[in-house]
Amino acid sequence: MPITYSEKTNLFEIRTNNSSYLFGINPKGVVQHAYWGKPVIAEENADLLRSRHHSSFDADVDRETEEYGGWGGCNYAEPALKATFADGVRDLKLKYEGYEIFEANELVVHLADEHYALRVELHYKAIPEFDLVERKVRVLNEEAEPIRIEQVMAAVWTVQRLPEYRLTHVTGRWAGEYQLRTNVLSEGKKVLESRRGFTGPHSNPWFAVDGGKADEQSGQVWFGALGWSGNWKIVLEKTTFGHVRVAGGINDFDGSFLVAPGQVCESPVFTGGFSSAGFGGMSRNLHGYQRKYVLPSGRDRKVLYNSWEATEFAVTVEAQKELARQAAKLGVERFVVDDGWFGQRHSDRAGLGDWQVNPEKFPNGLQELIDEVQSLGMEFGLWVEPESVNPDSELYRRHPEWTYQFPTRTGTQLRNQLLLNLGLPEVKSFVLDFMTELLSSHEISFIKWDMNRTVTEPGISPLMEHSGEAIWLKHAEHLYEIWAELRARFPHVEFETCAGGGARIDLGILRFADQAWISDNTDARDRLTIQEGFSYAYSPAVMMCWVTESPHGFNGRSLPLSYRFHSSMMGGLGIGANISHWTDGEMAEAKRFVELYKEIRPTVLRGDLYRLESFRGSNVAAYQYVGKDRNESVVFVFLQSQFFGSEERRLLLQGLDEDAAYEVSREGRETVRLHGSTLMNVGIALTLKGDYGSELVRLKLLP
Ligand code: DGJ
Repeated sequence: MPITYSEKTNLFEIRTNNSSYLFGINPKGVVQHAYWGKPVIAEENADLLRSRHHSSFDADVDRETEEYGGWGGCNYAEPALKATFADGVRDLKLKYEGYEIFEANELVVHLADEHYALRVELHYKAIPEFDLVERKVRVLNEEAEPIRIEQVMAAVWTVQRLPEYRLTHVTGRWAGEYQLRTNVLSEGKKVLESRRGFTGPHSNPWFAVDGGKADEQSGQVWFGALGWSGNWKIVLEKTTFGHVRVAGGINDFDGSFLVAPGQVCESPVFTGGFSSAGFGGMSRNLHGYQRKYVLPSGRDRKVLYNSWEATEFAVTVEAQKELARQAAKLGVERFVVDDGWFGQRHSDRAGLGDWQVNPEKFPNGLQELIDEVQSLGMEFGLWVEPESVNPDSELYRRHPEWTYQFPTRTGTQLRNQLLLNLGLPEVKSFVLDFMTELLSSHEISFIKWDMNRTVTEPGISPLMEHSGEAIWLKHAEHLYEIWAELRARFPHVEFETCAGGGARIDLGILRFADQAWISDNTDARDRLTIQEGFSYAYSPAVMMCWVTESPHGFNGRSLPLSYRFHSSMMGGLGIGANISHWTDGEMAEAKRFVELYKEIRPTVLRGDLYRLESFRGSNVAAYQYVGKDRNESVVFVFLQSQFFGSEERRLLLQGLDEDAAYEVSREGRETVRLHGSTLMNVGIALTLKGDYGSELVRLKLLP
């Protein structure tokens, strides 16, 4: 029984395979958090529900651990809910009303204000096999007047008492996303957020807190990931009484909105988890959860070719056909034409918004290329950026009022483009209609959906009747609705979420996206750092990686083709180089890697990831994937730079059966038979030399 309630102790317990989450109703009728950690016997812990008065400055210390505290009375912690009633009262007094349990793993706790007909439902769903709890809230206005919501968090998580609290999170920028950071949390707040209208590359709605000593294999970690692709906020707060709480949801910044009488507002889902197997355990649980419960399909990623880095905007049917012929020789399964195929899109200065095939580039239409791609045995995919418009476009000339704008301001152009206000119903219909037309009139199996700028001037046209309320909310809501509708209309089409790289990846969009483009930085070495940070929260099953040119266009670094393939084989493999210019030798080597990738793909995409070593503290980075049935494993090893004569390094593997024997194959070496105990405790010798060495090790369980 994952979820139970005890009348005797007033405690709810959400029990997963390796954790207990306890909260209950304290003597004041307040729903209070009690415990989250390794499994315990709930009824022995009723004393955790108590109220504590400290002084007239801190009269209700227990409210700091309220499960979902509204702003009102003497609650000064980051509020879960802040509301203003029609009569101007801005004080919430939420009291417990009752609960319902559905199918033993879903719980709804009902709260209501003491005076006003404002009801709050706290929703919990246990995911026992991954030690996760999904939370969200619904706020119901049963008043006769609208209620203004100033902040509504999806959940507040309270972390166990620890001597010290260390936060791990990611930060970044365009082409440098998912950089891991750690900070000690002291009294006060640390805010992770986006105010840019989408998830953003600067931070990502995921956090992990531990006592400062957890590592990849051991230690307790509390973590959470929020499923929202608009403005979001996660506030980590340590109070002076030592309570650490993590409130997360849609960002309240510039975001208050009205809930009309009889209406409901529903938060996104905030998934929280506890791991006593360190950060590795945390990531494997999040990955497994995404594969089983979040992603829209269980399909494996196709090996793709994308023409962006080869041609940029200079798309022509002949050059694309040539690239397709080369791609087919390599064993590519999906050929994707990126930006530049439509309107007057010869550079980033024009054409966005005009989603008609450019007749000079494709005199016989797009189908000519699609036919060629299909005759070569590949699927066809296409790039779009539906939320954006160049002022130099037919769409903008027709509908300048569709962009975000304030009447007295000139819209800020970023990459020479403005953003459409997707929250407007007519814009939503436009996007849905042109995408439907595109997908109905061509045999397209894959869409890369891009968005290359942040939101600015989030106003609406004075010519239009729509209210500016909740403008930030509507964009993300309509985006989800469009994706859901397109998936329903075209179930065979797969979608990639891209926002100038990895700026819109979160558990919200991943409910609709099959895969994610995690960065425009395709330098295979930089990419390892980006991929590692990404893997803390997100599964390799969605992580797209391309093999591109050497020296790399961004930083001029030269890397062997094998290194570039090894780095890109750690998720969904893609090729983005100008393969028309590749030599026969490069083509042959690449073909071998694509064949090899197809063999190990199920292990990489559906297996368990163990981060063995990281460039964050070592000259070596190594990542091991253990297949679902545990019969196979692959290890990717990378050397940064050799120091002559330094001690021989051994790499300790993980996730194997100590007593089982494995066949260990390494390129250019004799295959050996070793037991799991040796592989995990003694390890394999590392003999990579020089700079930027890399190696792939394969293990097969022997009968
Ligand atoms: C940004 C994307 O991340 C790139 O891969 C490419 O699609 C360009 N946009 C095209 O404009």
